[in-house]
Amino acid sequence: MSNRMVRLVRRPRGMATRADFAIEDGPVPEPGPGEFRVKIAYISLDPAMRGWMNDAKSYVAPVKLGEVMRAGAAGIVETSNNPAFAVGDAVQGAFGVQQYAVSNGERVIKVDTRQAPLERWVGGLGMPGWTAYFGLLDVGQPKTGETVVVSAASGAVGSVVGQIAKIKGCRVVGIAGGSEKCRYVIQELGFDACVDYKAGHLAQELKAACPKGIDVNFENVGGEILDTVLSQMNVFGRIALCGLISGYNATEVPAGPKNIRAVLTQRLRMQGLIVFDWADRVPEAIAQLGQWHKEGRLKIREDVREGGVDVFPEVLNLLYTGGNFGKLVLKV
Ligand SMILES: NC(=O)c1ccc[n+]([C@@H]2O[C@H](COP(=O)([O-])OP(=O)(O)OC[C@H]3O[C@@H](n4cnc5c(N)ncnc54)[C@H](OP(=O)(O)O)[C@@H]3O)[C@@H](O)[C@H]2O)c1
Repeated sequence: MSNRMVRLVRRPRGMATRADFAIEDGPVPEPGPGEFRVKIAYISLDPAMRGWMNDAKSYVAPVKLGEVMRAGAAGIVETSNNPAFAVGDAVQGAFGVQQYAVSNGERVIKVDTRQAPLERWVGGLGMPGWTAYFGLLDVGQPKTGETVVVSAASGAVGSVVGQIAKIKGCRVVGIAGGSEKCRYVIQELGFDACVDYKAGHLAQELKAACPKGIDVNFENVGGEILDTVLSQMNVFGRIALCGLISGYNATEVPAGPKNIRAVLTQRLRMQGLIVFDWADRVPEAIAQLGQWHKEGRLKIREDVREGGVDVFPEVLNLLYTGGNFGKLVLKV
């Protein structure tokens, strides 16, 4: 038995390539006192992974060269020296891009696979769901009747943001790439409108979809999309800056927002958010998202890819080209 793993061996320039990683077999790790071993079933592929590969100041330390690539994952405990985790428990945590991980239980959450399948616990009921929940409600602070715009609207975070905003009584407008994603966002998720930014008339179509202007923007993309939204924000609007995916593979520092003047003239509040800041409130998010999901008010979609850790570099890059449709997960 061996442990197939993906180690970062070179810092990518632009999009990560296969040559930036060593994909190889190592020994299956043995748990020491107080530890347990997880057989990983699903690895969460997140846009932030590209940032973790850079040697730059950020909210977490970069992945070191030679280290197993950092990743959230879900799996089953298969041997345990930790009384809090029993063999057979389903768990999620930062287990890395590999087949087996050893943990002492820190920041590992037990999940209920009777409530939702394992892969959903790294998706809409996991970190992306918590990001949507805390980012929209605590940072965006939407009020009934307000207009909320969310970019990357069909994705893991955006799809949950829009549905929570609908539950809170807002007019909800998504921005997504392509007619199929826009159709899904409106017809399946219940958004009021969705603008296909790839169709080439973003400003006009966003204006038509938001006749009263925009009160809350949940920003996942940045670049042209953020600029267009900025120009349509209402007085005292809030921008929850969650992600800037359009620039994650840039080789030069991307230009700043051209329409930053709107922050001044419309007295906007723009606040960045990192989900880990709400670590102590994760049980609240799990309970509320789980309840909405059970009631059928929160729909969640995964895009599960086969091929195991060997296809990690290519599958990860789907995120930056819009090749995923729903929460991107790698089956191990
Ligand atoms: N701050 C936090 O704590 C936190 C936590 C989790 C995620 N995030 C951020 O949330 C955002 C969404 O993450 P996710 O996991 O939910 O991914 P996702 O939305 O499921 O997938 C990424 C999507 O981004 C869109 N995209 C990629 N490149 C783009 C570009 N150049 N222009 C416009 N859209 C582009 C694509 O959708 P289209 O096909 O619609 O273009 C793609 O499907 C990311 O920015 C991520 O970094 C932040």
